Amino acid sequence: MAETGTDIARAAALLRQGQLVAIPTETVYGLAANGLDEEAVLSVFRVKNRPAFDPLILHVDTLAKVEALVLDIPAAARRLAARFWPGPLTLLLEKSARVPDLVSSGLPRVAVRIPAHPLTTALLMQLDFPLAAPSANPFGYVSPTTALHVQEQLGEKIPYILDGGPCGIGVESTIIGFEEGQTVVYRLGGTSLEDIKSVTGTPRLCLNQSSNPAAPGMIKSHYAPRKPLLVGELDDLLARHPDRKIGLISFDRVYSNPAVVQQLQLSAAGSLDEAAMTLFGALRQMDKADIDLILAQQVPDTGLGRAINDRLRRAAVRQEEA
Ligand code: TXA
Ligand code: MG
Repeated sequence: MAETGTDIARAAALLRQGQLVAIPTETVYGLAANGLDEEAVLSVFRVKNRPAFDPLILHVDTLAKVEALVLDIPAAARRLAARFWPGPLTLLLEKSARVPDLVSSGLPRVAVRIPAHPLTTALLMQLDFPLAAPSANPFGYVSPTTALHVQEQLGEKIPYILDGGPCGIGVESTIIGFEEGQTVVYRLGGTSLEDIKSVTGTPRLCLNQSSNPAAPGMIKSHYAPRKPLLVGELDDLLARHPDRKIGLISFDRVYSNPAVVQQLQLSAAGSLDEAAMTLFGALRQMDKADIDLILAQQVPDTGLGRAINDRLRRAAVRQEEA
């Protein structure tokens, strides 16, 4: 079991020794290591069982620290940073030689972000290195949004979890880069497309790629619970699977159907922000429930709804695999 608490000095001491600490952010919990220490970064990949071709995000608390990690910050990146940092936005920028190749998986750009969580900000202020931190889940599984989620899966493998309570946004950061002067969104997330658009104009979307550009399609599913999940119209899906023990994840409606053993509404009030916050917890709860098939519904495709729908699509299996 990992020790859990709010002791920033202890977290900082462990990180300085090259150990791993789970940290809260406004999006999801991260599995943090000294991002300039190759040995420490290697153990992040090991503990997560993550392939080395999937690069990590560096977390810092100031723009000055970002500047020390990259060669250049284009004007559009500066405008996005000024508007959304600290916050759920990650920028891909040309990396400086200070950043180990391991962090960026050998790519010329490194992912950086300034997260918005008081405990983690206080921790970063005490450190003279960035924290390399992927989401604190085994590779391929749903990201953790509470300290308990981290404890359940990685507790045996790490010494300390900094407990910052449940994550306020609940989906990972939006990832943005710049290609030939154009703004490109690589992952939908906690900063909405509408907000990005208001700063940079309409960005190009480059989504649904495997994280390994050299082997597209190798990673079949991501952000996925262990039980099969189907996404679609719930009435239709229920009619097609009458003989299964169903776990139902709806946006705001309640369904009455005898096959439904467990039912979770993401937001009874119909709030997409609340639905983003409750989504990953709901998927985890379904994995523990006495059901054998998860059915989920797409939410309205605006605001954080786009990130929710993206995660549901990635978590889903094909109809014939259900
Ligand atoms: O909200 C978040 O972003 C959370 C919190 C902990 O900050 N972190 C997170 O990290 O979601 P992770 O590693 O689970 O997902 C980051 C994704 C990677 O899967 C990778 O595909 C992409 O960011 N990425 C990182 N560095 C990259 C790079 N240099 N080029 C392209 N994609 C990159
Ligand atoms: Mg992840």
